[in-house]
Amino acid sequence: MKLLLKAVTIASAIVATPVLAESWTLAPEGSHLAYGTIKKNTVGEVNSFTSLSGHVSPGGKAEIEINLSSVETNIDIRNERMIEHVFRKVGTASLTAEFDMDEVSTLSVGETTTVDAEAILSLAGSDVAFDAEMFVARLSETSVLVSTNDMVFISTEDAGVNAGVDKLMELADLPGITRTVPVTARLIFNMDDKKAEAAPAAPVAVAAAVEGDVKAGKKVFRKCSACHKLEQDRHTVGPSLHGIIGATAGQADGFRYSAPLQNFGVVWTPETLTAFLSDPKGTVPGNKMQFRGLKKDEDIRNVIAYLQAESQG
Ligand code: HEC
Repeated sequence: MKLLLKAVTIASAIVATPVLAESWTLAPEGSHLAYGTIKKNTVGEVNSFTSLSGHVSPGGKAEIEINLSSVETNIDIRNERMIEHVFRKVGTASLTAEFDMDEVSTLSVGETTTVDAEAILSLAGSDVAFDAEMFVARLSETSVLVSTNDMVFISTEDAGVNAGVDKLMELADLPGITRTVPVTARLIFNMDDKKAEAAPAAPVAVAAAVEGDVKAGKKVFRKCSACHKLEQDRHTVGPSLHGIIGATAGQADGFRYSAPLQNFGVVWTPETLTAFLSDPKGTVPGNKMQFRGLKKDEDIRNVIAYLQAESQG
């Protein structure tokens, strides 16, 4: 989840190293997801799922698949009952969470932090949204540990497994199993493709790096102006591009961004804008800007020079 500079060759006279973040894959061996139940008001039990998989996109969106048939209760007959009556119809569950990348991206090896994640648990056709505070530790250049900082409570009713729990109580002749279960998770993610050089995202544009022609850029901007205004907070089809250089992608107040752009997590610099404007869909897959991009490097350079001049002026 650390932002890295990924060298991308762009036939351009300006510096061609757009800031793109890395993606991460969950390491099943080191990961653990458990939940607790209390029956008869007195007997506490911890169950876990042994089969997890998942990844985190460069923008900080985590998607984790939980194979519910891998439930481990430490008693075989109970595993079978749980699978048959509670989890069979559900199959797999998925957990999606969005992390605030700004926090995580600055962690160096050995450092820890806590981040707020907005998570959605999807199972049995229903979505349960919850907020979770996560503890994040950078284990090495290429791995991070993400764990729940506190217990997270999930209601079995919201999760759509209430009927299954009823059946289980009947079978096991149990008078009460709690309908809100505490959940804890320990997840280890490894960086997908280790890049030798890690460098921090440049927070401010280097004016000297842009040699574009502001006047020519103003003309190019006609292609954008149907959807973008330069006045602050003036959002139309697209967000206002006031002060866009140096701003974090997808964060202008009052504009409803698509999730992919909102989670992109990069700062708009001449480099990241060059990558985005030359291939909007390829750079931020799933974003909703209905624009194919600018084909000519010169146009890109010039429109960035114009945006930069407007940002500063
Ligand atoms: C047909 C409408 C349309 C055109 C034309 C268009 N855009 Fe966009 N643009 C959008 C929309 C909509 C978004 C928000 C996308 C999202 O949320 O996924 C966007 C997003 C952006 C962003 C990200 C803004 C932010 O706050 O992170 C930038 C930068 C951008 N456009 C620049 C341009 C430039 C420069 C041009 C012209 C060369 C252009 N766009 C042409 C509709 C358009």
